[in-house]
Amino acid sequence: MGEKILVTRTSMPDYDEYCKLIKSIWDSHYLTNNGPLHEELSKRIIEYLGVDNFTLFVNGHLALENAINALDLHGEIITSPFTFISTTNAISRTNNVPVFCDINPDDYTMDVSKIESLITDKTVAILPIHVYGNVCDVEAIEKIAKKYNLKVVYDAAHAFGVKYKDRSIASYGDISMFSFHATKVFNTIEGGGLVYANPSLKEKLDAQKNFGIYDYEGSVTTGGNAKMNEFQAAMGILNIQELDKNIERRKKIVELYRNLLSSIKGIKMCMEQENVISNYSYFPIVIESNYGLTRDELYDLLTTYNIFARKYFYPISNQFPIYSDCVGETPIAKGISERVLTLPLYPDLDNENVIKICKIIKGGQK
Ligand SMILES: Cc1ncc(COP(=O)(O)O)c(C=O)c1O
Repeated sequence: MGEKILVTRTSMPDYDEYCKLIKSIWDSHYLTNNGPLHEELSKRIIEYLGVDNFTLFVNGHLALENAINALDLHGEIITSPFTFISTTNAISRTNNVPVFCDINPDDYTMDVSKIESLITDKTVAILPIHVYGNVCDVEAIEKIAKKYNLKVVYDAAHAFGVKYKDRSIASYGDISMFSFHATKVFNTIEGGGLVYANPSLKEKLDAQKNFGIYDYEGSVTTGGNAKMNEFQAAMGILNIQELDKNIERRKKIVELYRNLLSSIKGIKMCMEQENVISNYSYFPIVIESNYGLTRDELYDLLTTYNIFARKYFYPISNQFPIYSDCVGETPIAKGISERVLTLPLYPDLDNENVIKICKIIKGGQK
């Protein structure tokens, strides 16, 4: 049956290196509240991404809620349902209304040709997702946003390190949110961050993540607690040093998958995007009707070999009862979600296991 292979496996730094770094926390007794490791990690992320404005958060979800709050958005927000439920919940938990736009069938990002028909006098923003690290049509989105005076917040949870036309994808839109969750390409155990165009948001975001406090005896805004602690920051400092090497290994695995799966009828892979430097964060395949099994049958077949792919994203947000009455027809997203399977992909995955997974998939074809 072989070892258990999950869809991902967290990249971790050398244990002794981590212990060495967190020794400074015992020396200083500084565990959280923008401590020295927090500040060091912020600096390194800014350098890595080549951006000007960045704020760390305890996780990606709260970073996204804080982004929406910082822009004072109150109304309808056009988004895609082909995402993790966090995206849609961030919209509703900030008292906004999600309006669902369909996706395009080649890279699963928002279909920009369908945005304008969803705009009403209540629309305040567009919140597209760089899903699987695939880059949205940022130029078309910018044009529409300018025309209708809308804000753009990207859910870039999957896209840390991705570049479009030699610029970080975070340099597009008003704000981009990254997740540094343990399952992501770059992790801080739990964690997240916002990159933003307007530097004046920094003070507001710093206050919002610290109970809304601008100064202790003076002004306060509404805010909660979304601060990253020093143990998370230490993990990030060590992991970011390994990131390029890890992305390089992911790239090799993706190339092997593409090579081995390309001859199998009925297995569709994501389009490779032009002008994009990928982070190879996920490897989704779509099972078409001319393959020998359904998506669920292939999923079950893989589990018999102890291989656990993910039906990621299934169901889509607007299939959950709390969002099923929301505006927006999304047949493409629904169809993809019923046929998509995300295959195991992480730097330690060895070639033999990739070959084994592909052989099992080949065995399922008609
Ligand atoms: C698309 C998407 N958005 C938001 C999140 C939330 O990020 P976090 O887990 O860091 O809170 C995740 C991931 O977990 C995600 O995949």
